[in-house]
Amino acid sequence: MSVLIKGGRVITAADDYLGDVFVEDERISLIGESLDVQADRTIDASGKYVLPGCVDPHTHLDMPFGGTVTIDDFESGQTSAAFGGTTCHVDFCIQAAGQSFGEALETWHGKREGRSLIDNGFHIAVTDLREGGTLEELAALPDQGVTSYKLFMAYKGALMVDDETLFKTMEVAAETGALVMVHAENGDAIDVLVKRALAEGKTEPRYHALTRPPETEGEATNRAIQLARVAGCALYVVHVSCKEAVDPIARARTEGWDVHGETCTQYLFVDYSFLERPDFEGAKYVYTPPPRAKENQDVLWSAVRNDVLSVISTDHCAFLWDGQKTAGKDDFSKIPNGGPGLENRLQMIHHFGVREGRITLNRMVELLATNPAKLFGLYPRKGTIAVGSDADIVIFDPGRRVTISAATHHSRSDYNLFEGTEVEGSPEMVLLRGQVLVEGDELVAQAGVGQFVKRARFGEELKPAHAAAAS
Ligand code: URP
Ligand code: ZN
Ligand code: ZN
Repeated sequence: MSVLIKGGRVITAADDYLGDVFVEDERISLIGESLDVQADRTIDASGKYVLPGCVDPHTHLDMPFGGTVTIDDFESGQTSAAFGGTTCHVDFCIQAAGQSFGEALETWHGKREGRSLIDNGFHIAVTDLREGGTLEELAALPDQGVTSYKLFMAYKGALMVDDETLFKTMEVAAETGALVMVHAENGDAIDVLVKRALAEGKTEPRYHALTRPPETEGEATNRAIQLARVAGCALYVVHVSCKEAVDPIARARTEGWDVHGETCTQYLFVDYSFLERPDFEGAKYVYTPPPRAKENQDVLWSAVRNDVLSVISTDHCAFLWDGQKTAGKDDFSKIPNGGPGLENRLQMIHHFGVREGRITLNRMVELLATNPAKLFGLYPRKGTIAVGSDADIVIFDPGRRVTISAATHHSRSDYNLFEGTEVEGSPEMVLLRGQVLVEGDELVAQAGVGQFVKRARFGEELKPAHAAAAS
């Protein structure tokens, strides 16, 4: 199957030009000003942007968490992603207590099998090095294409690890070339604050934020940075929400340390006041780190503009408000932490980032596709439009007006973090390795088309499939 995409405005992290893109055998094989080639299908992209498929390095599909399981499985979550212009994501495979990493990965592969609509890789979330996985097993994972180790410095009594586990994992990463990712909050201090608040009868959703002050995120971010320096590994700080965490990352990058960070769409738009919404509506915004004081949003925009933060992910961790979040009606600590977001990242960042002049189109592509692909061993197969790259392509209509709503989104969640927001600019067609996934409002592909991607080690390139086979 060959596809010719004609006359679009091709935008990568570096380029912006009018051109034709020819796709053969799942990959981009020609790019030119006016290509004279026969194709099985020709798509007129005049007036549209031709963007690389977005890459989301932070999602939680079909994940047991907070006494329940996230409401989007691989099929519904990836459908939501596809409609939002995301064609590849890296999901967290969580090691259950006592489980080996191999067992955890087998479980997660089972979750995606037959349900996949886009490509994905896995990070391994290390929770237990005492009775479950061993350091030797961890060291072998990059050979299976699992090239990032995630550690939670919070969620005491559940996913949280101590500094010994964190540091030993960092040392393994320094040896194997994996990237260490941290959820950086001081889980011990937060646990004290949560128990005290509950003992004082403070049960409403807003106490989720009031018991996780930004200093606890700043402290853990700095601790992880310093430990990574001692271990000699590369570090990636997930879901940065506030100035207290941006500052140590900015310092690290100024010093030339191998430290990288992301924020998520919601931190740029949702602030602490959302948690105060009446009638338990605040529970919709209970995710971790929590929505912060509004002034942090300017700090985050500035950080993504200046490359202190290199990625905007979604941390898609969707629950039902009515039926799952309600577990915490009388106790904020029982509200499952997380929210939906896979579908609206590109729309929100394009409208409020690019249209409103906060970032350029090139920077948008860099933040949503190229940088996540580079940092997570997917580039140049993913994250750009280039000869040899997978033909993961978004035909984006910059004039298409959409009102974001749970009534029309494809996540199974019964609410949307950006409900009622009007945006101008939305994907019109989405291709995965040359196959049309989404056309207008229709999903035209069948579950099963997505592939598991074995990622390269940090700092290494993922060769296009044909080149890897030939070498
Ligand atoms: O609230 C969140 N972010 N839920 C997902 C787990 C995590 O901490 O990333
Ligand atoms: Zn987290
Ligand atoms: Zn997360």
